[in-house]
Amino acid sequence: MQTHEIRRRFLDHFVKSGHTEVPSASLILDDPNLLFVNAGMVQFKPYFLGQQTPPYDTATSVQKCVRTGDIENVGVTTRHNTFFQMAGNFSFGDYFKQGAIEHAWTLLTSSQDDGGYGFDPERLWVTVYLDDDEAHAIWHDEIGIPEERIQRRGMADNYWSMGIPGPCGPCSEIYYDRGPEYGVDGGPEADEDRYLEIWNLVFMQNERGEGTGKDSFEILGPLPKQNIDTGLGIERVAFLLQGVDNVYETDLVRPVIAKAEELSGRAYGAKHEDDVRFRVIADHARTAAMLIADGVNPGNDGRGYVLRRLLRRIVRSAKLLGADRPSMLEFMTVVRDTMAQSYPVLDTDFARISNVAVGEETAFLKTLASGSKLFEGAADAVKASGATVIGGTEAFTLHDTYGFPIDLTLEMAAEAGLTVDEAGFRTLMAEQRKRAKEDAQARKHAHADLSIYKELVDRGPTEFTGFEEFVSEATVLALVKGGVRVPTAAAGEDVEVILDRSPLYAEAGGQIADTGTITAAGMRARVGDVQKIARKLWVHKVTVAEGQITEGDTVLASVDADWRKGATQGHSGTHMVHAALRQVLGPNAVQAGSLNKPGYLRFDFSWQGALTEQQKQDIEVVANEAVAADYAVNTFVTDLDKAKKMGAMALFGENYGDEVRVVEIGGPFSMELCGGTHVGSSAQIGQVTLLGEQSVGSGVRRVEAYVGLDSYKHLAKERALLAGLSSSLKVPADEVPARVEALVDRLRVAEKELEQTRAKAVLAAASEFASKAQRVGAVRLVADKAPAGVGVGDLRSLVADVRGRLGTDPAVVVLLGDADGKVPFVVAANKAAQDLGVEAGELVSAFGPKIGGRGGGKGDMAQGAGSDLGGVDAALDAVRARVAEIAEGR
Ligand code: ALA
Repeated sequence: MQTHEIRRRFLDHFVKSGHTEVPSASLILDDPNLLFVNAGMVQFKPYFLGQQTPPYDTATSVQKCVRTGDIENVGVTTRHNTFFQMAGNFSFGDYFKQGAIEHAWTLLTSSQDDGGYGFDPERLWVTVYLDDDEAHAIWHDEIGIPEERIQRRGMADNYWSMGIPGPCGPCSEIYYDRGPEYGVDGGPEADEDRYLEIWNLVFMQNERGEGTGKDSFEILGPLPKQNIDTGLGIERVAFLLQGVDNVYETDLVRPVIAKAEELSGRAYGAKHEDDVRFRVIADHARTAAMLIADGVNPGNDGRGYVLRRLLRRIVRSAKLLGADRPSMLEFMTVVRDTMAQSYPVLDTDFARISNVAVGEETAFLKTLASGSKLFEGAADAVKASGATVIGGTEAFTLHDTYGFPIDLTLEMAAEAGLTVDEAGFRTLMAEQRKRAKEDAQARKHAHADLSIYKELVDRGPTEFTGFEEFVSEATVLALVKGGVRVPTAAAGEDVEVILDRSPLYAEAGGQIADTGTITAAGMRARVGDVQKIARKLWVHKVTVAEGQITEGDTVLASVDADWRKGATQGHSGTHMVHAALRQVLGPNAVQAGSLNKPGYLRFDFSWQGALTEQQKQDIEVVANEAVAADYAVNTFVTDLDKAKKMGAMALFGENYGDEVRVVEIGGPFSMELCGGTHVGSSAQIGQVTLLGEQSVGSGVRRVEAYVGLDSYKHLAKERALLAGLSSSLKVPADEVPARVEALVDRLRVAEKELEQTRAKAVLAAASEFASKAQRVGAVRLVADKAPAGVGVGDLRSLVADVRGRLGTDPAVVVLLGDADGKVPFVVAANKAAQDLGVEAGELVSAFGPKIGGRGGGKGDMAQGAGSDLGGVDAALDAVRARVAEIAEGR
C-alpha cells in the first residue's frame, strides 16, 4: 500500500466517525520551546491545557514532524529519521481510553477491502502503564488480546510528555511482531526491533512541570479534562505494509537513494559506509525540502542552522560517494515527485525550494574548497615537522568553520598518509555540545505563561476598527503588568491594556504597530506598541502619562494620524516593490519576509546572486510608474480558494483562516493577501527610492527603499552631496564623474612612477651591498642593515638581487630592515652555499632570537620579522658566527 494511501485511510477512518480533519500545522509553529513541531498534538496544546476552547470535540490530522536531536545517527542505523508523518486522532474531553483503543484496533485490523490496514491481530502486542488496570482491562476483556501479549511498562516507556512542561499522561502502545528473523521472543519488553511500535495512544490527563529525561519531572496536577492524543507512524506502517525492512526502502524514500546511486555510480547495499551516506541523502533531502517549504532558510543559528547542517551533510555525503558534480537539484526534484501528492506546496513552490537548497550547495562547495586548502596547509605543516598526526584543533576548525565532518577529515588524512588526533577533536566537540545545551536550557525559561489571557481570548477577539476610523470608544477588558492581572495602573507605570475594540494596528504581516493614545477624563496613556495574543487579542503596551487607568473604564483609543499615514505609505510601497520585483525578475522572486514603517520598507525574497544595476533601475522604474498611474487601492474579503484562484499572492508558511482579506492595487498589477493598512490610491505612496540590495543569507536577497517624504529627503541629501562635490572639484555637476575618473587615472600614474623610482633606488643599493661582501671561509657573506623603510616585499627582491651579483661561488645574503618599528628580514643562500651546508631557514634560528623574531622558509630563501630593533647588531654578529662555523666545518 502506497504511503499516500495509508495517510488517506487514516483520515477517512476518523472523519467517518465524526472527527474534524485538521491540516498539518507548519513545522515552525510558534512555540518558544520547540525548534520544530515534533508531534501531532503540538498544534492542539492550548486545548489540552485549557488555555483555549477547542472549536471541535474530536479531530484528526497527519502532522509533518521533524526531530533533529539525533542527526549524527541518521543513516548509521535504518531506524533514525529526521522527518516523519504522525497520524493522530484527538479527543478534547470527548471519548477517553475505551474510544481510543477501539478506534485504533478497528483501523489496524479491518481488512484492506474494508478500508483498514489489514494487520494480523495475532501479531499485535500492546503495552500499558504499570498500574493502568483500566487500559489493561479494555485490551484484555473487550478487545480480546491474551494476557501474554499485554505488557506493563514504567514511566520511561509508557508515560508520554513533550519533554517540556505541558500536557502529559500514561500511554498504551501497539506493536507489530515482525517475526523471529528480526530478534528474540518476549514482546516489546525484550526487543523493540523485532516488535515494532506503530501507534502510541496517550491518555492525556495531567500537566507536568520542569524536569529532564522521560521520568524525572513533577506532575503538577490534573488537566481540566481527560483527553486523547495518539500518534501512528505513517512511515513505519508503510514499510510493514510494503513488505520491506525499513523506511529507506519505502515508495517515498527509495527513489532518492536510486538517484544517488545513479549520480555516484555506486550501489546501495554493497558497503556499509556508502549505505550510511545514501541514507543521509535520502533522509535529509526530504527534511530539508519540507523545512524550506515552511519558510526556513539556511542560517547560523536555531532552525536555520539545522537546515544548513542537513543540506551540507547531503553535499558531503554525495561527495564522499564520489558524485563529481552538484546534485542537489536532482535530489530535490525526486523529493518533489514523491511527496507532492501529499504536500502540493513542494510542487507549487519548487522554484523557491530548490533555489534555496542549491544556493546552499553552491556556497558550501566553495567552503569545502577553501577548507581543503586549510587541510592541505595543516597536512604540509605536520609533514614538514616530521610528525604524522593532524591536531584535534585543526580537525575541529575544519568541522566547525568549514563544515567538514570528521570522517571527511579522516579520509583526507589517510590519503595523505597521516592520522588525526580524534580524541582531541572529540573533547572540543563535547565542549561545544555542552555550550549548545546550556543555550537550549536558557531558551526554555523564555516560555511565557499565556494562561492569564485565556478567559479573555475565550470572550472573543478584539474588534479592529482601524480600517474605518482613527478614534474609537472602547472598554478596558484587562490590565496586565509583569505577567499578572492588575486592577489599575497610575501615572508613570508601564502596563498592558487589553481593549474590546481598537483602531490601532497590531504588528502583523511585516507592518509595525501604530502609535497613539488611550485617554479618558483626567487620564492619558501613550501607546508604544500593540501586539496580538493568540492572533485575536489586541494588547496595547502603554505608559500612563496622567491620571489612572482602571479595568472596566470606557476610554478613547486614538491612532497617531501622521504615523498611520506614513505606515500606509510604507506598506502600500512594499506591495509596489514586490509587484515590480516580480515583473522584472519573474515568479521565482518569492517573498521571504518584509518590514515596513512610516517612510521606510524592506523586502526579502528568494533569489540567487546579486541583482544587476539594470535590474535595480528597472524595479524602481516599474514601481514609480505604478505610483504615478494613481491606481485605486481596493480591499475585500473573500475565501482563501477564491483569492488564490484570482492570483492573489500569499506568504508561504503563513497560516491563513478560511476568510482572507485581499488588497488589490491596479488590478492584476498587485494583488496580495494582506491584513495591513493601505493608502487610498497609489499616488499617495509618493516617490519610491531603492537604497540598495544585499544578501541576507543563502539564496535570500533584501531590497530597502524610502517612500513619501523620506524618499524626497534622501534624494535632497544626495543632491546636496553632489553640489558639494561639484564645488570642490570646480566643475558643473554633470562633469563630476568625468573629473573623478581623470583624477583617479592621474593618481594611478603617479603611484606607478613612485614605485619605479623606489625600485631603482633598491637596485642601486644592491650593487653597493654586493661590493661590500666579506669572505668567511669559502663563503661570500653580506650581512647588513637594509635601507630604512624597505618592507619585506622589496627586501626580498633586494636580497635576491645581491645574491645574483655574488656569482656562483658559495654566497649568503642576510639583510635586516627597519620598518614601522619592526625588523623585517630576508635570508638567501645560493646553491653552492647550500652544498656547503648553509640553509637559509636554519640560519634564521641562529639570529632570530636576538631580535625577538621568528620566520621560516626553505634552504634557499627564508623571511620573517622581529620586534626588537636594539638587537640588530647582535643578530648580524650571530649570522657571521654561524656562517663561519659552517664554512669552517666546525
Ligand atoms: N504525542 C504522542 C507521541 O508523539 C502520540 O508519541
